[in-house]
Amino acid sequence: MAQNIKKLVQQLSLEEKTRLCGGEDWWHTRAVEGSGIPAVMFSDGPHGLRKQPQHSDHLGINESIKAVCFPTACAFTSSFDRSLIRALGEALGEECQAEDIAVLLGPAVNIKRSPLCGRNFEYMSEDPYLVGEIAAAYINGVQSKHVGTSLKHYAANNQEFRRTTVSAEIDERTLREIYLAGFEAAVKKSQPWTLMCSYNRLNGLHASENPKLLTEILRNEWGFEGFVMSDWFAVNNRAAALKAGLDLEMPYSLGHNDRALFEAVQSGVVPEVLLNIACERILTKVFEYADNRIKAEFDRDKHHALAAQIEKESAVLLKNEVVGGGPLLPLKKDAKIAFIGEYAENPRFQGGGSSHINPHKVSSALEAAKAAGISGISYAKGFPGDSDTAVEEDIAAAVAAAKAADAAVIFAGLPDVFESEGYDRSHIRMPDCQNVLIAAVAEVQPNTVVVLHNGSPVEMPWLDKVPGVLEMYLGGQAVGEAAVSILFGDTNPSGKLAESFPVSLEDNPSHLNFPGDGTTALYREGVFVGYRYYDYKKTKVLFPFGHGLSYTAFTYTNLRLSKTSITDTERLTVTVDVTNTGKIAGKEIVQLYVADKTGTTGRPIRELKGFEKIDLAPGETKTASFTLDKRSFAYYHTGLPGWYCAPGDYEISVAASSRDIRLSARVTLSTGVLLPFHVDLNTTITALLADPRTRDLAQKEIIEKLGGNAKEESGTPAASREEIETRQRHFREFMESPLRYIYMCTPIPYEEIVKLIGRFNGLTN
Ligand code: BGC
Repeated sequence: MAQNIKKLVQQLSLEEKTRLCGGEDWWHTRAVEGSGIPAVMFSDGPHGLRKQPQHSDHLGINESIKAVCFPTACAFTSSFDRSLIRALGEALGEECQAEDIAVLLGPAVNIKRSPLCGRNFEYMSEDPYLVGEIAAAYINGVQSKHVGTSLKHYAANNQEFRRTTVSAEIDERTLREIYLAGFEAAVKKSQPWTLMCSYNRLNGLHASENPKLLTEILRNEWGFEGFVMSDWFAVNNRAAALKAGLDLEMPYSLGHNDRALFEAVQSGVVPEVLLNIACERILTKVFEYADNRIKAEFDRDKHHALAAQIEKESAVLLKNEVVGGGPLLPLKKDAKIAFIGEYAENPRFQGGGSSHINPHKVSSALEAAKAAGISGISYAKGFPGDSDTAVEEDIAAAVAAAKAADAAVIFAGLPDVFESEGYDRSHIRMPDCQNVLIAAVAEVQPNTVVVLHNGSPVEMPWLDKVPGVLEMYLGGQAVGEAAVSILFGDTNPSGKLAESFPVSLEDNPSHLNFPGDGTTALYREGVFVGYRYYDYKKTKVLFPFGHGLSYTAFTYTNLRLSKTSITDTERLTVTVDVTNTGKIAGKEIVQLYVADKTGTTGRPIRELKGFEKIDLAPGETKTASFTLDKRSFAYYHTGLPGWYCAPGDYEISVAASSRDIRLSARVTLSTGVLLPFHVDLNTTITALLADPRTRDLAQKEIIEKLGGNAKEESGTPAASREEIETRQRHFREFMESPLRYIYMCTPIPYEEIVKLIGRFNGLTN
């Protein structure tokens, strides 16, 4: 069918075509009777299927089919494991085939600008490189099963407050480097079948009617081949949206926008050829799905096991101090352990809103410990899992249980209402009842571990009092199994943080401007998001980006670069040997950071440009290998406009976290790209001397013509130190002078300067 799509569209009436560009109902595209065009179904996404057979909504209110809730993105991204995430995608693709779902609405890849964003649990990271890699692996996995994905929410949907109307005000460089780069990599590496535009405005214009986003960047620059759909009810003006590049409106508009589009085409406001193109794009994917149905089984138990495996690889061991001669974790299976906190019994494993899954089963830590034959477990509820209500007797019982045991494990975190799609948090504290309980238990039991169930960072006022913290995030329906497996040492933890944990909310770089006044959200921190800010400012954090502990230890040796100097069109291979120096097998996530040492202002201290997760037996050494290219060094230069590598030195570091740099080496980069440079009366001498095109002429016609007094080195042997310093100061001031008044301090007449400007521009243009 695919090859006839153009012809098929030509045979459709204008009404049929406009109807095709809107949804039939909450989840379906439209069929066209008599034409062979079928309707196909979409489903949320991203970490499981939310197929709603009957009453539909986009808030996760009504019942969906029993499905498997995989770890949410905040958790699975911490695995830093491309092949594991591909396996997750493949499983989701199989489920879609089994349930006749053509497009899974995910992955969600918005940058975690603030820990307050209510939807951070669904998002991946504060780092766009990590986002792009993980998103591409997920998409390639799903789409290998002939099912589409919808990369969302494009773009800059970084808060829930007024998400449908707020304007994210972002400068071009920040937009490209931070907020678009993850989308860009995912599009280029995996060609998602569809992309979902966001609700918000970007610099004043709704994302749904933004030609720069939907056409110029997405299609013309990145080469996107699929179709663009709207987020649910994100269309503001249907005609403007189609013209900008929005192909499909979802879900439906009771015919209102279909009519508006029909009239806009009929009256010539929207050229019919654009409508035809939108139909072709939609139908290409509809038929790609319909023509490639595969017999697949939705094996819920098998996928539950995969959910457990993903969570085991994703959980992050944040703290594990030595107590009584050895690290607290792993716990001994024959010890007396008090499990405390309602999440031991009813874990919080997913977030609220459109991604809410109806899980076919949930494994709690209590059940999992029992199933694993760990018999010395006692349980005290300690606090309620769904509110912030402290019950004195519950706290007392928990303290007593902790006292009577060899160790206490507190299953804590955030209740559902604390974080969800639809609203942001107003603080990053855990419920007081939990903080009080943790402090009380730690008081009587030195061997206390806190196991966290949360979608986003929390403040930890009790951190110094507990020797162990295990971050499970919102770990999916098998979270209990995964927690027990790590706590008792059947799994060696290997996840690392995909985001920084600030000491307090006020430390976050977006704090002064988040979430804005309801009309605009000013992204004034620019590219300094997450660790890019904390590392630059040397701000103390609770746990840095990329941090995660293991029950074994790794050393990094022998860092090698394939070259010591490259051009910006060449690739650089970086290798490092990593050895497991401990007694048990483990996995290490080796991170590669690039630091600009060229003197360019406004660049972060270091940026993640590579990672590899390697599996090592005790005593084993393996080589991690990375390939860097132009984008690993470049920043977005608005003057070009485009990606630009400043010539000079760059430091390449391999690291265990953004604050645990193990080895570094330098490479010198050269470029043939010359930045635009227009010389005028306000151009300074320094700028002329800095540019290779104007340097010689400036030297000859300005510097060499300076009178003795103006020359930096012109002191006579008899000149005093003070005289020399004064001359040097004058010289530096002179160098910062614009051409417009140097006739005042040099023998060069004004008319000469004007002529010189012409000569300079002859060289730069
Ligand atoms: C969400 C999307 C979701 C859609 C359909 C919207 O409110 O922003 O992420 O896919 O609803 O449920």
